[in-house]
Amino acid sequence: MSSTIEKALQRRREAMAAEKAKNQSADSAEQQAAPQAPAAKRSHVPAARPQGPTSQLEPFNIDLDRLERNGHVSLSGVRKGINEEYREIKRKLLANAFGPLSSTIKNSNIIMVTSGRPSEGKTFTATNLALSIASEQDKTVLLVDADVLKPNVLNTFGVERRSGLMEYLTGEVNDIADVLYPTNIDKLKIIPAGKTHHLSTELLASQKMHETVDEFANRYPDRIVIIDTPPLIGITESAILANFAGQAVVVTEEGRSKLSDIRLSVERLNPDMAIGFVVNKVVNKDANDPGYYGYYYGQEQETANGA
Ligand SMILES: Nc1ncnc2c1ncn2[C@@H]1O[C@H](COP(=O)(O)OP(=O)(O)OP(=O)(O)O)[C@@H](O)[C@H]1O
Ligand SMILES: [Mg+2]
Repeated sequence: MSSTIEKALQRRREAMAAEKAKNQSADSAEQQAAPQAPAAKRSHVPAARPQGPTSQLEPFNIDLDRLERNGHVSLSGVRKGINEEYREIKRKLLANAFGPLSSTIKNSNIIMVTSGRPSEGKTFTATNLALSIASEQDKTVLLVDADVLKPNVLNTFGVERRSGLMEYLTGEVNDIADVLYPTNIDKLKIIPAGKTHHLSTELLASQKMHETVDEFANRYPDRIVIIDTPPLIGITESAILANFAGQAVVVTEEGRSKLSDIRLSVERLNPDMAIGFVVNKVVNKDANDPGYYGYYYGQEQETANGA
């Protein structure tokens, strides 16, 4: 385990008690300010309703109970440690996307979730971030499964496979809107990876992909786009995707990710993007909350403008 990450973890542990207390008081303030009674708010589950006049597509019906049972962010209002952890990560990403620094980051609302090696928790992180941001009052999220070699977003959400990014990039589908599906979560839309193609990773690095991401950034500037991507080490095209996104979340796994791999991953990213780290699968020693995984989200100081 690297000393950098260990220090980060230490800082995180120290901050955690204070963080929890702060979030609790923020939550209770939110509940007081909200027009609904607190009890009604806490039992709120996003409604399964059609997604507005533009989408003709059948919404994906995400099984929120199953996600919650599998340790994901809960949208049912139940207080869970993971919700608080992701709320903190999300705040920083939203600040980069829309805050004062956003004008210094190209495509600041486009966030790629990546890692050095497979299985460190990219899809887990991308799906949780999407759920967490979709629960914001005024933010919509588009989750794109660009891990075309090991697509896992639909599987994680427990929904059926449908055509997606690959069909669009190969020209089988003409309009990106035909693979941009609404879901039963009001503010969440998904573009699945679609079927694997022998040129999958090359297509990811294509000019068409670049233009598509730019269009997301410009056409929906108030929307967050989260892109689940293949690992950075060993798959060159993932690094090319980094040129299209304004922010990167690098997922590392406590006790497993090597510092040399983390360094290598960061070197492959675009130095002008905002880069943050999530330490995943941290086992908390908190006696009141045994065994849930925690996260530390730290951000490199030298982000915008390569300062
Ligand atoms: N914090 C966590 N808590 C519980 N389970 C987790 C956590 N992080 C990851 N997992 C589980 O670990 C497995 C690997 O995670 P995930 O699929 O997100 O990794 P990945 O980096 O996307 O892998 P791949 O490189 O195959 O795409 C999954 O079964 C996932 O549900
Ligand atoms: Mg994955």
